[in-house]
Amino acid sequence: MSVQGEIRKITTLTLTEMKQRKEKISMLTAYDFSMAKIIDAAGMDVILVGDSASNVMAGHETTLPITLDQMIYHASSVVRAVKRALVVVDLPFGSYQGNSKEALNSAIRIMKETGAHAVKLEGGREVKEAIERILSAGVPVMGHLGLTPQSIYKFGTYVVRAREEMEALRLREDAKLLESLGCFSIVLEKIPATLAAEVSQSLKIPTIGIGAGNGTDGQVLVLHDMLGINHEFNPRFLRRYMMLFDEIKKATENYIKDVKSMDFPNENEQY
Ligand code: KIV
Repeated sequence: MSVQGEIRKITTLTLTEMKQRKEKISMLTAYDFSMAKIIDAAGMDVILVGDSASNVMAGHETTLPITLDQMIYHASSVVRAVKRALVVVDLPFGSYQGNSKEALNSAIRIMKETGAHAVKLEGGREVKEAIERILSAGVPVMGHLGLTPQSIYKFGTYVVRAREEMEALRLREDAKLLESLGCFSIVLEKIPATLAAEVSQSLKIPTIGIGAGNGTDGQVLVLHDMLGINHEFNPRFLRRYMMLFDEIKKATENYIKDVKSMDFPNENEQY
């Protein structure tokens, strides 16, 4: 909050300043109005409308099927709820890899049709032209290195990335490249903690880790994982803050019981 009680919005510049003063950045995903309203009210710095919506909202096995139109629907719902956080939206698979003009058109659609503040896309040198073109239109870009779920069929597995020196070297170079292109931040997903810390220290822009240890400049989790809604996903890096699957199931069972027994509605719950 500012002195006048006005909400001070988080910008890409705020994140750089947070890194400079060693204040960690909090980021969570959200895909709908109601959840976004809660996590924004809690003081989240960055809300990511992740393409993980493909998994947790639509039930797909991978992030590949979600479309640009669907991402725009999720993102515009989130933006309507948010007063303070920086809202970043994933460019979905197939919306930026073809050529840089397609990438720019996809980013522009997201910015125009949702009111979001930035886009995120996966990859390093292979998406250089796409990043340059999007940035040239004034759209802030967050990078994403390490485990890049849109390439799951190339790697065939979700195991930790960049354990081998060759891949670690490539990641270091890609991180430097993304910074030099003008990305405002980079997500580092599922890489060794020592490598993530080293890359974070070598950059001026903030890194946000997921499964990348404590040496990054911020942390991100998928909302449905940390709330225990998605209760079957149990990677080592995940800390659960609730087990909402059990809570919601219990509440639902109680409601069914009350309906069947005619306990609900009672006299005070009718007109
Ligand atoms: O889509 C997503 O949720 C993400 C995070 C895991 C960083 O990209």
